[in-house]
Amino acid sequence: MSDRQTADGGRFDAFRALASRRGAPGDRLLDELARARLANPADSATWSPAVASGLGLPAAAALGSATFYADLAAPHGRRHVRACTGAACFAATAGRPLDAVERALGVRAGDVSADGAVSLQAVRCLGHCYAAPAALDGVLACTGPGAADQVTGRTPRAAPPIPSVDTTGDPVLLCAGDAAEDPWEVWRRTTTASTPAAVREQVAVSGLRGRGGAGYGVAAKWQAVRRSAGTVVVANGDEGDPGSYADRLLMEGHPQRVLAGLALACFACGAGRGRVLVRSEYPAALAVLRAACERAYAEGHFGPDVHGTGRALEVEVCAGHGSYVAGEETALIASLEGGRGCARARPPYPTERGLWDAPTVVGNVETLAALPWIVSRGGAAHARRGTASEPGTKLVSLSERFARPGVY
Ligand SMILES: Cc1cc2nc3c(=O)[nH]c(=O)nc-3n(C[C@H](O)[C@H](O)[C@H](O)COP(=O)(O)O)c2cc1C
Ligand code: FES
Repeated sequence: MSDRQTADGGRFDAFRALASRRGAPGDRLLDELARARLANPADSATWSPAVASGLGLPAAAALGSATFYADLAAPHGRRHVRACTGAACFAATAGRPLDAVERALGVRAGDVSADGAVSLQAVRCLGHCYAAPAALDGVLACTGPGAADQVTGRTPRAAPPIPSVDTTGDPVLLCAGDAAEDPWEVWRRTTTASTPAAVREQVAVSGLRGRGGAGYGVAAKWQAVRRSAGTVVVANGDEGDPGSYADRLLMEGHPQRVLAGLALACFACGAGRGRVLVRSEYPAALAVLRAACERAYAEGHFGPDVHGTGRALEVEVCAGHGSYVAGEETALIASLEGGRGCARARPPYPTERGLWDAPTVVGNVETLAALPWIVSRGGAAHARRGTASEPGTKLVSLSERFARPGVY
């Protein structure tokens, strides 16, 4: 047995080993570290051990994570501003995305003012690429050529909604208004009158492939998962690629479609737990999804007895903490466990051993949001869209330098 393996042949994970030695799972760690970071300019080495001990964890477990995630590592003043240096903001400012904000605040990126009043953090993409450049003052967006003046309060904040255009006439993802079918009705019909096998069959017929980058077949991924009570489905809302903001549009504008899609995936995979990971650069998406999740519990779409069927579904919306790499599925699972967001060797694949070793299916937000339409209209209707090898539709985000920026 190598020192990288556990007795049962699994991989060795130092964070898990440290956490389990104290009988503490660690999944509250990152949120607790984020709370301790607020208005705290000090180096994480000075304050993270106290957070660890409050959770019954060793200091090294907290320091490892506190130094990994950009938001936890960045010193915070009482007011914390994030300015985007991503491609669209870089292009919109002739390659100097930080200059105006640094001048306006009188503080350099990565620093805190001497009196601890304000700090500035450089980030890569805030999902406002259509109105670049962009900054977040706390959780409030400032965008466009006057973003720095908005940060100082010289001009009112401006953060226009995401322009979105559908020319297909029958959108899979962006349907809204009276003509749109309520995704929660699809979920209700499915739980009361369908079966997991029937949902899997329709998704196989649809030809749906993952929209998170690798393009893996959704039906094949679902086939690989061991369907047991502990199975988890994770919606990946990390959307780390600068210039993409389609997932932000779905999470903020169509949260019920994202959550109903997650619920349908859980149903098909026999999962009793769903998680949504939303990147920290999207505070509005996090708030909207959490409110929608709470409503879904109140309306009986989630909970111990979904729609009176006796079936349980527990869903939680979790915040990211600033890491591009943690968008990769094994790294994302490590971060949901409270550890550093580093990719894990595969095999075992997450469908075998994922979140806390439970069988785990990770699906991109856009992938999952297509499920209510597919289940309602049938897989064949989806397969007829797009091309034979790439069925369905795909959202595309155009940045500020385009003539008509927006999601298409
Ligand atoms: C470095 C890296 C970053 C990634 N970031 C994301 C991301 O932000 N969002 C996402 O959905 N997938 C991301 N992925 C892909 C995920 O690992 C995973 O394949 C995907 O979430 C699965 O969903 P899908 O099958 O619906 O595409 C990333 C992959 C890598 C290697
Ligand atoms: S908001 Fe700056 S690149 Fe997306």
